[in-house]
Amino acid sequence: MSKFKTVAAAVIGCAIIGGVGFIAFAQYGEHKSFPAIKAGLLTGDTAQVQRGQYVAAAGDCAACHTVPGGQTYAGGYALQTPFGTIKASNITQDADTGIGGWSLEQFDKAVRHGVGNHGYLYPAMPYNAYTKMSDQDIADLYAYIKTVPAVKQKVVENELPFPFNQRMLLAGWNLLFFKDERFAAIPGVSPLVSRGDYLVNGPGHCAACHTAKNLLGGDVAETFQGGTLQGWHAPDLTPNPHTGLGKWKAEDIVSYLKTGTSRQAAAAGPMLEAVENSTQYLTDDDLHAITAYLQQLPASKAAVPVAVQSTDPQMVQGRLVFESQCEACHTSSGAGVRQMIPELRNNAQVNVKDPSSLLNVVLKGADGPITAGNPTGAGMPRFDWKLADEDIAAVQTYIRNSWGNSASKVTAEQVKASRAELGAKAWLGR
Ligand code: HEC
Ligand code: HEC
Ligand code: HEC
Repeated sequence: MSKFKTVAAAVIGCAIIGGVGFIAFAQYGEHKSFPAIKAGLLTGDTAQVQRGQYVAAAGDCAACHTVPGGQTYAGGYALQTPFGTIKASNITQDADTGIGGWSLEQFDKAVRHGVGNHGYLYPAMPYNAYTKMSDQDIADLYAYIKTVPAVKQKVVENELPFPFNQRMLLAGWNLLFFKDERFAAIPGVSPLVSRGDYLVNGPGHCAACHTAKNLLGGDVAETFQGGTLQGWHAPDLTPNPHTGLGKWKAEDIVSYLKTGTSRQAAAAGPMLEAVENSTQYLTDDDLHAITAYLQQLPASKAAVPVAVQSTDPQMVQGRLVFESQCEACHTSSGAGVRQMIPELRNNAQVNVKDPSSLLNVVLKGADGPITAGNPTGAGMPRFDWKLADEDIAAVQTYIRNSWGNSASKVTAEQVKASRAELGAKAWLGR
């Protein structure tokens, strides 16, 4: 559980480029003021603390602010960027090394406006989504964070080399990509869809992974149509029937977010963490709200490619690999075993153009999700040591073009590149 919290790796790199042109603005921007949070929302009673704990789960603050096995919210989690390392801050109540003594206003300024005690925060901290959160949720969250035990742990957050360590450059990024505005409901939608919109685009920061980034690390206009991060592809969440959630029923989406598995898929990598740390704790009402919001998005327009012929030599080779290595679990019809072995036919992730996640799972294997709703979690074995690049490419092309699936071929060169990127083991066969 290390590399993928780099949701914003590209974002940060590019933040900097974006920032360079705006130094002048930055110097001015450092002194910018923000709309004040509504007064009188802070009671600090048990009910508020409990609501705040729920907001922290919805926002998945622990994903970055708690090192696996480390102390809660004590920070230190390293986010790798092409320019160097950024560490998530200690947000416990320790006065020297954490955020002890911070007022609600200071907390708000960091979480919703992206300005911490040392100046602008790197957008690795997803304030560009949190900015949508309500005054009430921020006050509740603050009340909860106040109850987290203080831990003294110094985190040197910014180890980037010059000039990337210059926080004021981030003002340029903010100017280009950050809309500092609260949530506003889409007119005319149901309260359920509106709540889902709030959760997805506010605390849930789903777009951080599921929306592709432009060269400067800002979100592209095609929101929720899939993004690639750290060797994983976070797929299209729109109702596109081929690459998106078009074939998922509402209960499939709810089940996936609650337990990590659905009829179609099992969560791996960064999504497995999002389920384990965050979405499994959401109420059924909120999961239905997220689902209703996703289902009313306009379907992406990705074209459906023509399937590769079963007589193609790579398909013939791939079929042999599938029969000997995969069929015992995934079954010859690609149907899998319900809620345990994911179905490979009708599986959006198998049909997406970018095979990053497929290569990741087949090369390095995947632990099944372990959630309250799915305590046993079957796993997918790793094949990096067992199969040559050509065989992995062939089996990928085969599953991507069988049982009604259709997607581009995967080449041995792609497998080789993936092995290097993921630090996978070498094939033992030669
Ligand atoms: C995807 C990773 C990620 C998530 C999720 C995340 N943070 Fe952060 N956060 C960071 C990083 C990285 C920093 C340090 C950024 C920097 O140094 O510029 C940070 C900084 C902060 C700071 C500023 C601390 C300081 O000393 O200036 C606060 C406060 C904070 N986060 C609170 C939260 C809360 C509350 C949540 C959940 C609602 C949250 N964060 C979720 C990555 C994350
Ligand atoms: C840290 C990055 C990250 C965040 C944040 C994130 N996701 Fe994901 N998501 C992924 C990745 C990567 C996958 C693919 C996992 C796999 O292949 O097993 C995925 C898969 C999914 C899938 C399954 C799609 C399919 O076709 O198999 C759904 C549904 C989903 N995410 C919904 C959400 C929602 C809703 C949110 C916000 C509450 C969210 N995700 C937040 C990275 C993320
Ligand atoms: C021992 C049983 C087993 C074998 C053998 C096996 N798998 Fe899997 N596979 C699984 C399980 C379980 C998962 C779900 C893992 C997770 O993401 O939690 C999975 C997941 C996958 C996924 C990801 C699906 C998704 O929704 O993201 C792909 C692709 C896949 N397997 C392909 C293969 C291929 C190709 C082979 C043969 C080279 C293979 N599997 C062999 C059990 C198996």
